Amino acid sequence: MQISILLAHPDKNSFNHAIAKTARQVLRRLGYHVIYHDLYAEGFDPVFTKRELSGKGPLALGIKTHCEEISRADGIIVVHPNWWGQPPAVLKGWVDRVLRDGVAYRFNEGDNGEGVPVGLLRAKTAMIFNTSNTPIQREKDVFGDPLEQLWKYCIFHFCGVCHIFRKTYGVIVTSTPAERKRWLEDVGRSIAEQFPPVKSNKKRQPRR
Ligand SMILES: Cc1cc2nc3c(=O)[nH]c(=O)nc-3n(C[C@H](O)[C@H](O)[C@H](O)COP(=O)(O)O)c2cc1C
Repeated sequence: MQISILLAHPDKNSFNHAIAKTARQVLRRLGYHVIYHDLYAEGFDPVFTKRELSGKGPLALGIKTHCEEISRADGIIVVHPNWWGQPPAVLKGWVDRVLRDGVAYRFNEGDNGEGVPVGLLRAKTAMIFNTSNTPIQREKDVFGDPLEQLWKYCIFHFCGVCHIFRKTYGVIVTSTPAERKRWLEDVGRSIAEQFPPVKSNKKRQPRR
């Protein structure tokens, strides 16, 4: 069983990195094969070019690999800070270039793209972990929590991933080490709830 983790934060010492590392640790302990992408560290190029948009010619090798991985994933975890109510641009670019027509969704024959898409991703569950400096209630009341709409409806439901778990941790800027420790424990617990332990296929060795 394979889970893809997508992390978008430029600072290795950030709380976002701590979340993603915790997710990777917990998933491995549960028996999952984890594909881990730190998009900044990998220098992911978010620019969707005219040539790529035209669909002519082969996909860049790196993008092809991302497409194959996300198609195979049994679950997806996305980790990023709230930047202007949006993901950092590097992750927006990953969505543009990787969750493409024919990989993550398609339209039925006779539908030129204006109708209802058919989701193609195999994953049934996606978890999104966000951080912010705006108190969560104010984010909902004043800004309408745009990240909820974006990930749940505009992206994952569109691609056939129906079960979405999203959690925002904050306020980060005033948080204490004890709070952050509790939040990381919460990340681990939430992941274990969404992704049950993988049963091992290894045969037990008989006792001698
Ligand atoms: C470019 C930029 C835009 C930001 N926009 C928002 C925002 O719209 N709402 C918010 O609550 N915090 C905003 N922040 C604060 C970040 O969400 C916050 O620094 C981050 O969640 C802290 O997590 P970290 O310690 O992992 O960096 C922004 C920060 C940056 C750098």
